[in-house]
Amino acid sequence: MARKSTKNSTVLVVGATGVLGMEICRQLAAAGKKVKGLVRTSSQEEKVIGLHELGVEAVTGDMKDPQSLYRAFQNVDAIISTATSTISHQEGDSIETVDVAGQLNVAEAADAAGAQHAVFISFPPYPPITPGFPLQAAKRAVESRLRSKKFTYTILQPTYFMEIWLGPTLGFDYARAKAVIYGEGKNKISWIAIKDVASFAVASIDNPAAQNAVIQLGGPDDLSVLDAVGIFEQESGQTFELQNIPNEALRAQIAAAPDSLGKTFRGLMIGLNAVGTIDMKETLRNFPIQLTSVREYARQMTVPSVSEGQHNFILRAGRVPEVDEAIEQVGQLLR
Ligand SMILES: NC(=O)c1ccc[n+]([C@@H]2O[C@H](COP(=O)([O-])OP(=O)(O)OC[C@H]3O[C@@H](n4cnc5c(N)ncnc54)[C@H](OP(=O)(O)O)[C@@H]3O)[C@@H](O)[C@H]2O)c1
Repeated sequence: MARKSTKNSTVLVVGATGVLGMEICRQLAAAGKKVKGLVRTSSQEEKVIGLHELGVEAVTGDMKDPQSLYRAFQNVDAIISTATSTISHQEGDSIETVDVAGQLNVAEAADAAGAQHAVFISFPPYPPITPGFPLQAAKRAVESRLRSKKFTYTILQPTYFMEIWLGPTLGFDYARAKAVIYGEGKNKISWIAIKDVASFAVASIDNPAAQNAVIQLGGPDDLSVLDAVGIFEQESGQTFELQNIPNEALRAQIAAAPDSLGKTFRGLMIGLNAVGTIDMKETLRNFPIQLTSVREYARQMTVPSVSEGQHNFILRAGRVPEVDEAIEQVGQLLR
């Protein structure tokens, strides 16, 4: 079906107060789009103020309330949904109510409100040797629903985010030169930076290569967790102390986890040892985006402290504060 051009369009971000969603809003506004962000009455006030400062119009809605979505999506051309209950969750939020039912509500409301285009942040399918986990089932169910709709869909499948999985509270504690290694830590992963995922989401709005497409996304190099430790050691001048959690222990934990969120985090940890790398050559031909390397990320996060010698280093100030906050919340969940 012929589609109206989405140039000069109004784009609404579901998950606008999140780490990725906020960065997408920032880049959309910088690109001159008219941007709306879905917020809840319970969303943190400083994040809503942050959106306002970016020039984003906040519209109220909850993914668990289909009518509120339908109202919020009026006169919107494109919807980008990053939302998830995995890190920030209010009462009543869960994988089942947000990542499955809530995202299906977004698809239905987008269709009913006449949106032209829906962009969904998913992740690549896991190899069959890994145990299934609820968030993966959720992503596949939402992808399938989006494909059945009359609007244009874009399903972005980024692999592991470096800021989250090579970050302190999932055990990669570069400030203290300690890292928890899930499984052997030897599997190569195409770590991607959050701002690069945001750039692909923003580019998807106007790029014909993103129409009715499923696009896997990775960063510029394929590195194991142990390779990443080596890079942080070089950049910081410190030798990391490593703690290993065997794959068998994670597999036992996934079976014993009391809820979908617990099973999901164990599934994602097991997946670190099994996912494939992502060849970005073809995608970068269509989307010429400069990808951030793990070394650049490591340099950003570690600054050798001249005065206190090579064993001390400080965190560089001014990074995306939402990333640190989200990581802290994941840590609380896992403790
Ligand atoms: N981390 C990785 O390595 C990785 C890899 C591949 C893909 N991904 C995907 O990337 C996305 C990550 O997004 P993110 O980092 O921005 O997540 P995030 O920081 O946890 O933000 C979650 C957002 O969802 C919103 N939300 C949750 N429940 C909602 C509800 N019931 N109604 C309306 N909004 C709701 C939150 O709003 P409030 O502020 O109101 O709570 C918040 O804006 C996820 O879809 C994730 O699956 C992550």
